[in-house]
Amino acid sequence: MKIRQLEISDVDKVVEIHQNTFSGFFLTELGTRFLKLYYASMIKNKASTIAVGIYADDDSLLGFSIGSTQSKGYYKRILKSNFFKFCLIGIYLVFTKPMAIIRLMKNMDKVKKESDDGLYCELLSIGISADQKGKGYGKVLLEAFEKEAEKRNLKKITLTTDYENNDGVIAFYKKAGYEVFYEFTTYPNRKMYKFIKTV
Ligand SMILES: CC(C)(COP(=O)(O)OP(=O)(O)OC[C@H]1O[C@@H](n2cnc3c(N)ncnc32)[C@H](O)[C@@H]1OP(=O)(O)O)[C@@H](O)C(=O)NCCC(=O)NCCS
Repeated sequence: MKIRQLEISDVDKVVEIHQNTFSGFFLTELGTRFLKLYYASMIKNKASTIAVGIYADDDSLLGFSIGSTQSKGYYKRILKSNFFKFCLIGIYLVFTKPMAIIRLMKNMDKVKKESDDGLYCELLSIGISADQKGKGYGKVLLEAFEKEAEKRNLKKITLTTDYENNDGVIAFYKKAGYEVFYEFTTYPNRKMYKFIKTV
């Protein structure tokens, strides 16, 4: 098992793991083309992104964690970095999945509390391939993400996760030392936790 930075060549596998592990999430509903552009833009933007993969000995990707070095303004930076391609996909989605686009726009700014300044690192996705869960890889991956944050001198890490029907994932984060920062509701009516950890 190996840990290393995600490369652009990992995008297809990252999207495959995302689609298997995040079914029903609003980003997933935007489809494969969107997800490929989304993850490729993040992985390319190395200065603003922490992107770590866990690989088997044969180099196949078992899971990934990816997030921003600074939550505030991150999506704008990603959008700008590939503006033309996001516009094209946006136009396509307006016609094919209008509700998903509305949901995306309403949820893009994830800072949901006045006292939340967004000046912290944010874990945006962590996923382990369905057949590899429960083997300790998620823990290793989360620690690798945190180490990378520490290397960049980032002290606080946050993440968002579902409030309801999510006991397993909540237990996973709490075991790793994450605490409830606050609760909020996303559009249209999904209750979420924002967790935080100081590293
Ligand atoms: C959440 C996820 C990343 C955890 O990865 P994993 O490899 O299955 O977890 P690990 O085996 O490393 O478990 C680490 C610890 O968390 C605990 N844990 C993990 N899943 C758990 C569950 N469902 N219920 C209770 N505890 C759990 C383990 O018992 C372990 O505890 P220990 O350190 O005391 O042994 C993985 O299950 C996953 O990809 N889930 C789907 C995607 C997802 O929901 N991501 C989070 C979105 S916010």
